[in-house]
Amino acid sequence: MTSGSSFYITTPIYYPSDVPHIGHGYTTVAVDTLARWHRQAGDDTWMLTGTDEHGQKMMRAASANGATPQEWVDRLVGESWYPLLERLDVANDDFIRTTQPRHEERVKAFVQAIYDRGYIYAGEFEALYCVGCEEFKTEAEIIDGTGPFEGLKVCAIHSKPLELLQEKNYFFKLSEFQDALLDLYSTVPDFIRPESARNEVRSFVKQGLKDLSISRSTFDWGIQVPWDPSHVIYVWVDALLNYATAVGYSSDPDEFARRWPAYHVVGKDILRFHAVIWPAMLMAAGLEVPRGVFAHGWLLVGGEKMSKSKLTGIAPSEITDVFGSDAYRFYFLSAIAFGQDGSFSWEDLSARYQAELANGFGNLASRTVAMIDRYFGGVIPEPAEYSDADEAVQRVVSDAATAADAAIERFRIDEAIAAIWTIVDALNGYITENEPWALAKDDAQRERLGTVLYTAAEGLRALAVLLSPVMPSSTQKLWESLGAADALGDLTSQPIRDAGHWGQLPTGTTVQPLTPLFPRVEQSV
Ligand code: ME8
Ligand code: MG
Repeated sequence: MTSGSSFYITTPIYYPSDVPHIGHGYTTVAVDTLARWHRQAGDDTWMLTGTDEHGQKMMRAASANGATPQEWVDRLVGESWYPLLERLDVANDDFIRTTQPRHEERVKAFVQAIYDRGYIYAGEFEALYCVGCEEFKTEAEIIDGTGPFEGLKVCAIHSKPLELLQEKNYFFKLSEFQDALLDLYSTVPDFIRPESARNEVRSFVKQGLKDLSISRSTFDWGIQVPWDPSHVIYVWVDALLNYATAVGYSSDPDEFARRWPAYHVVGKDILRFHAVIWPAMLMAAGLEVPRGVFAHGWLLVGGEKMSKSKLTGIAPSEITDVFGSDAYRFYFLSAIAFGQDGSFSWEDLSARYQAELANGFGNLASRTVAMIDRYFGGVIPEPAEYSDADEAVQRVVSDAATAADAAIERFRIDEAIAAIWTIVDALNGYITENEPWALAKDDAQRERLGTVLYTAAEGLRALAVLLSPVMPSSTQKLWESLGAADALGDLTSQPIRDAGHWGQLPTGTTVQPLTPLFPRVEQSV
């Protein structure tokens, strides 16, 4: 991608029927990291997140809590969903709520437009519905209930009984888009990633598509169908449209042209909505399809998909209160191959925090700054002649920066971090081998000592820049400690695609003492 091009990326909009858990946090920090990387590369970046506030699930959650749906979503969004972004250090550009007038007006305009183009008709309908999924279920997605639901048909995802719905509905002619969708998947191989997700969607679409019921008339918590106010628009149609309404669909053509199309990052549970229904809706409206859909895997707890409805939900604050937001971001983004499932455990989190963050990166930063302080009065020394070992470090930095950027282009944040971590490992090995503490005892080695400590400090400069999208808070502390802000400017304005270019850290500036980036955690887990 060339610098300066448009990069619009989205999270799903979450149901604020309940408080967020670490799965919601996972998607959100992944998208934030990709957005921060592109922003720092100079791309015209826009990150959107938000909440999906209509539908039956929300009505029921509200009434179970003695509130109206609007009161309930206002409370949850204000008390739990906005604060999540702050807690996880997320720099989103916008937050859309589907109850906002800007969204409701533009959804009506869109639905009216595809109605006018002949893609909507009225029909009769009877099928089993899962309120947890807000979706009608096909044979393959229905299983026999167990325990309290013995003898009932239940949803394969939620294990809760399905409800038989019989209504007059409006239908979207999804079945007409089978060929166009298959064409899209072949001509744009990256449209769905990873490969496993692409294959699953292709075989699903190859089996043929049914038209989609896109309105409901038995409740009113939703956006009215413009030509028939006795119906509200199906919550998934309403929700998917957020990606377009938030950037000015039907109301701000310049903004829409600047941002659209988007990249969507979603959990694999909602892949089909994004890779089948959503592009078909856009085609029906004569709009460009998304740039791509990336489906990540599930966080598993005890071998099962973690979820609130199954009471396995872990609140993000349980982790950030102990380990901090950077550790949260680093752990989920590095420990799980992006696109595959990953098991969460406190033991694994704790072990990686200690080994990789505290002993690996944190200790490297602390001891480098401390040695510059001790041996050079805090002033970053001039490098003299570079040896082979120094040049080997420079190559690691340069290769890591290139590999990390390429991995981010593939949405493989885990691979980007692994590439960047070769710098941490190389520098720790370099310091051990070059023993600056021994060089410091010999006046004849003064130049060599300066070169070794400059190499370590300049390596840290590159690490701060490359890790800033992943760990914005600790890298900022490191940046200030290196005294880089005065000479080089803000950390987040360092061009990330030049991060591997050696020799940017100015000499002669004074380092500031560095408190541990990842302090010891006093907690038995
Ligand atoms: O589906 N592991 O909202 P939702 C990883 N409103 N990610 C997880 C997860 C887990 N165990 N659990 C949840 C909806 N997620 C709709 C979306 S978009 C137009 C409408 C994350 O609150 C993951 O991103 O159920 C998943 O796709 C999303 O939360 C579902 O959030
Ligand atoms: Mg869900």
